[in-house]
Amino acid sequence: PSVAVIVVAAGSGTRLGRPEPKAFVPLGDGTLLSHAVRGVLGMREPVQLVVVVPAERVDQTRAELLASADASAELVVVVAGGELRQDSVAAGLAQLAPEIGVVLVHDAARALTPSLLFDEVAAAVRTRGHGVVPGLPVVDTVKRVADGRVVETVDRAELAAVQTPQGFPRGALERAYRLAGGEFTDDAALAAAAGVQVDVVPGDVRAFKITVPADLRRAEQLVAEAGA
Ligand code: CTP
Ligand code: MG
Repeated sequence: PSVAVIVVAAGSGTRLGRPEPKAFVPLGDGTLLSHAVRGVLGMREPVQLVVVVPAERVDQTRAELLASADASAELVVVVAGGELRQDSVAAGLAQLAPEIGVVLVHDAARALTPSLLFDEVAAAVRTRGHGVVPGLPVVDTVKRVADGRVVETVDRAELAAVQTPQGFPRGALERAYRLAGGEFTDDAALAAAAGVQVDVVPGDVRAFKITVPADLRRAEQLVAEAGA
C-alpha cells in the first residue's frame, strides 16, 4: 500500500470516566477501537494500519485484530503509545513501511467516522501535495473573552471545527515531528508550526469525538439505528 493510517488509541479517557482506557470501552457489538478500525478497513484501497494503544494492551489488541479483522498480518502493526497524544503519533510514525507516501492520523475516539472520509482525505493529500484536515462550520456564535469580558465576536465564517483523519505527505509529517517543540492539540497545528501548508476539506458529523458520557450515549444511539 501507499497509504498508512495511524489510529491513536493510547489515551486514558479521563473525561469519559470509565475504568478501562477509552478506546476499549464497549460500543454496540464492539469497542470504540474496533469501530474505528472497521472504518479504516472499509477504505477503497488497502492500507497499512498502525494502531497505537496503552503498553499493557498491545498483545491483546494485536491478537484480537488479527483474529477478527479482514486485516492481514503484514499490514497491521500494534505498538505502545506515550504520555501525550503526539508521543503516540510519533510511536506510530516509527512503524511506517518503506513504500508509504501518505499518512493519515486518526483518533480512535472518533469511532464512527465513515470510510469515505478516510478515502477523501487520502485523495486530497495526493492531489494537493500538502496537509489536509476535515472541518465543519462552527454553528455557535464565538466570542473572544479576556478577564470574563467579551472582547469581540469572532467572524464565524473564518472558523472551522476540525476533525480526524488528518492526512499528510509522509515526508512533511516526519519532518514536522522531528522539528516539533512543545505541545500541540492536533497534527495540523504541529505541521503548521513546521511550515507545512494544511488545507481544510468538508468533514462529517459522524466523525465527532467521543469525549464525555453524553457523546458515548449519542454513539450508542447511532450504532443502534444503523443496526450494527
Ligand atoms: N491519545 C493517545 N495517546 C495519548 C493521548 C491520547 O493515543 N497519550 C489518543 C486517544 O486514545 C484518542 C485521541 O488521542 O483516541 C484523542 O484524545 P482524547 O479524546 O483527548 O482521548 P483521551 O486523552 O484518552 O481522553 P481524556 O483527554 O479525556 O483523558
Ligand atoms: Mg486527551
